[in-house]
Amino acid sequence: MAEKAARVAARTAAKAVQHCINHACGATYSLNERIYVCPKCGETLEIDCRLTRVSDPAALRKRWAAKSTSKLPRDASGVWRYHDVLPFDEQAPFVTLFEGNTPLYHAPRSAVYCGIDDLRLKHQGFNPTGSFKDTGMAVAMTQAVISRARTAVCASTGNTAASLAAYASRAALQSAILLPRGQVSAAKLAQSLDFGALVLEIDGNFDDCMRLVQEIGGDPSIYVANSINPFRIEGQKTVAYELMEQCLWQVPDHVVVPGGNMGNSTALGKGFQEMLDLGLIRRLPRLNVIQAEGAAPLARLFGELNPKQLSGATQVPETIAPVKDPQTMATAIKIGAPVSWKKALRAVLRSGGKVISVSEQEIADAKAMIGRDSIGCEPASATTVAGIKKLVASGHIKKGEDVIAVLTGHALKDSDYMIRYHSGTLSAAPGSQQEAGSPIHGEFQNAPRHVAATKAAILEIFAQRK
Ligand code: F0G
Repeated sequence: MAEKAARVAARTAAKAVQHCINHACGATYSLNERIYVCPKCGETLEIDCRLTRVSDPAALRKRWAAKSTSKLPRDASGVWRYHDVLPFDEQAPFVTLFEGNTPLYHAPRSAVYCGIDDLRLKHQGFNPTGSFKDTGMAVAMTQAVISRARTAVCASTGNTAASLAAYASRAALQSAILLPRGQVSAAKLAQSLDFGALVLEIDGNFDDCMRLVQEIGGDPSIYVANSINPFRIEGQKTVAYELMEQCLWQVPDHVVVPGGNMGNSTALGKGFQEMLDLGLIRRLPRLNVIQAEGAAPLARLFGELNPKQLSGATQVPETIAPVKDPQTMATAIKIGAPVSWKKALRAVLRSGGKVISVSEQEIADAKAMIGRDSIGCEPASATTVAGIKKLVASGHIKKGEDVIAVLTGHALKDSDYMIRYHSGTLSAAPGSQQEAGSPIHGEFQNAPRHVAATKAAILEIFAQRK
């Protein structure tokens, strides 16, 4: 067994390398080295799968399409279907819960709300644990098994936690989760408990949890499952491939994602760049990242970039000023010191996209509008539609352009937020431009009505509605 694991590890390592994203350093490391930042310069790492331009893109597309109807778990997974572009040997112990294969919806009401002709929503909330984290976790836990880790650990605002708890359990690994106490939605906490993780509620915010994970991550028994781990990014990049298949390989003009710790934007940027390098697509979509106003360190930095920096991905600043006490009711993205900001910013700049922020009011109304499209999502995901509306108003997105927003989490991840919005008791988070505690005016409020238990009372309400 150990021998087989060693053989798989050796063959996997031959397929790809980890490399430091700092051009001046450029160090490379074997995939078997369990490191999360470059030991030489401290910068983050990226996996180079050594992909080369394919001679017959149509044949590769056809092969992937054929796999999507397969009954084999490995092919049916929306991640492992793209094994050709992942850093694993054929014999790897693939961990899967049938992630990926998520719907791409048209959202006509949200499109009108934003001021564009058409809007499509790629709903990653339809993954096994209800968020986009599952695509990355399938890959990270596979590598954890290959590298014979014992305990997988993460810091989380709730979704990474739920996903890690589920996938670690599937892979027969222990998991431990560091959560900011009192700042995680009940549904996400419940999932982690149910999947059997050791849940540690920390007196501090997400950034404190992340710092602690990086401190304990050096211990050889521990496997860090946050998106600073480049294997997470490999899994999450497959969403870009799947999206292109769903678009029949017609590249959209804009892809819009929420930004927190910046793993998702990094991963989508990597996926699109790879497809360009492979010859599967001819241009990149503009990648736009939207943050909540009270937790927007990258939007702030983006706003300060000079024209030279804006014109190329190699000119990014060396440092980012963290937001010390980040605040937003979109708790999933309540993050002040994103670990993958540099990789994400490079991807945005390379594509000609933007990083902006939106207010609590804008997030809340955009979320209700997505609900009116019968789709729903968690608050962090709604930053996308709020951001598109703003980017249309500023002229960055044109009315007739092809726009896709990535919804990252399922609506039921935070039902408390929805109840409060619709019953008029949602109030602004401190740190947003709105005064802290001041009520959010729900433009699309739909409060429940208390009605007497009589036919007449019910008909009376119906009559009022007309
Ligand atoms: N949307 C949702 C629903 C999330 O849970 C997160 C991140 C994001 C967007 C932002 O993605 O961090 O890749 O930029 N949630 C992490 C967590 C931090 O712990 O669940 P990102």
